[in-house]
Parts: sequence; structure tokens; C-alpha cells
Amino acid sequence: MNTAPSKSRPAPGWYKRLFAWLMAHANAEYEATVADRKRDLFTDLNGTVVEIGPGSGPNLAYYPADIRWIGIEPNPFMHVYLRQEAERLGLTVDIQTTSAERLEFADRSVDAVVSTLVLCSVPDLERTLHEIVRVLKPGGRFFFLEHVAAPANTRLRRVQQWIRPLWRAVGDGCNPDRETWVAIEQAGFAQIDYQHFRADLPAIVSPQIIGVATKATA
Ligand SMILES: C[S@@+](CC[C@H](N)C(=O)[O-])C[C@H]1O[C@@H](n2cnc3c(N)ncnc32)[C@H](O)[C@@H]1O
Repeated sequence: MNTAPSKSRPAPGWYKRLFAWLMAHANAEYEATVADRKRDLFTDLNGTVVEIGPGSGPNLAYYPADIRWIGIEPNPFMHVYLRQEAERLGLTVDIQTTSAERLEFADRSVDAVVSTLVLCSVPDLERTLHEIVRVLKPGGRFFFLEHVAAPANTRLRRVQQWIRPLWRAVGDGCNPDRETWVAIEQAGFAQIDYQHFRADLPAIVSPQIIGVATKATA
């Protein structure tokens, strides 16, 4: 399975700025197609919620006003969009320019972690999932919506593998063929409820998963 750590040179500032602009301005169509799924997914978030890679903030609109929200966003050019969106919604946000592989929270200290379209891009997927499990309180939940590898031995899977080097270069380190669900299943959660679905997106990133993984209560 392609879940091994990926290595690449850090992207230049102009590229990070362009990627942030694209995430803020070119995602409305996709967001509309997953709006109902996101509404269901985020329906009972509460307490301290850590979102990894929140990008320009498309998920903020779904959150209850009384949560404590902390965003882990290493691309500083995303922050202006995140703050604008938070201000529009009247939310208080705490943005940290760190990374999901090294969460600066105590063990068992957060109620929920959220990730949408991020686990494809983190350089070290297993390390990231280890950190998520570590910081969640007993019974805490990990909410995810991710694009993933197409089924094995399909034409689309072969195309995803073939295009991966180019896709990673132009897509801010995004791996189109990660079996992310396998890594989540192996991360040590007590229960995982998720489903595969096809998103209304270019074929390469249309296979997606959505679900909730729950940490053991003790
Ligand atoms: C494709 S964007 C998705 C943004 C947003 N979650 C959404 O659904 O539109 C991927 C995001 O993950 C962030 N990211 C990449 N590597 C990361 C890491 N190691 N830790 C945390 N965030 C990361 C990027 O900066 C970017 O904001």
C-alpha cells in the first residue's frame, strides 16, 4: 500500500501563496457536492477540536459556535483566508503554523480531530495518525473526509500510480494513490465507521472516504 513517508523539497513561497489562493477561490463546486456529507459528519462536534490542514477554512461554516477550534496549518498564506472566514462566521480561531506529524498538545487532551483532504499530503501518514490517537481523549473522535487510492488492479489505480510524481509536484505534495483507509484501520482506534464514495471531481481524486474513528475509552 502506498502509505510510506514521502520526501520532497520544500515548495517555494510563491507556490505556497498560489496554492492558498487556489484553495480559497477554486473549490466552491467541490464543496457544494460534499456539503450534505460534511453537515452529517460534523453534526455533534464539541469541546476542543483540532483541525489539521484546514487550508482556507471550508469546514468552519459547519462548526458549532461554542467549540474551541485550533487549526494546524503549516502554509502561512492560508492563514489570511482562514481568519477572513472565521470573522465572517463570528468564530474565534487559534491558528498554529506547525505540522500534523508533531502536534503540540498533551496526551489525551482534545475531544476531536478533523482532517479533510489532508492525509493525502502529509509527508508521514503513520506518524500523523499516531499523533492524532495520542492527543485524543479516551473516547475522542477523529473525523475525516479524504481522497484515496482507487480499488486495486483497476485502470484508475494504475493511472493514479503513474501520475503520482507529477501530481505531487503540482499538487503541494498530494499523493493520489494512498490507501489511507488501511492506515486508519491500523492506527489503533477502537472503532472506525466509514464509507467509500465517488466524489464529483476529476477521476484521479474522485475515490474518497468519509467517516469517524473513535479512540478507546480506557
Ligand atoms: C488540499 S489542502 C485541503 C485544505 C482543507 N482541509 C480543505 O478541505 O479544503 C491540504 C492542506 O493540508 C495542509 N498540510 C500539508 N501538509 C501538512 C502537514 N504535514 N500538517 C498539517 N497540514 C498539512 C496544506 O497546507 C493544505 O492546507
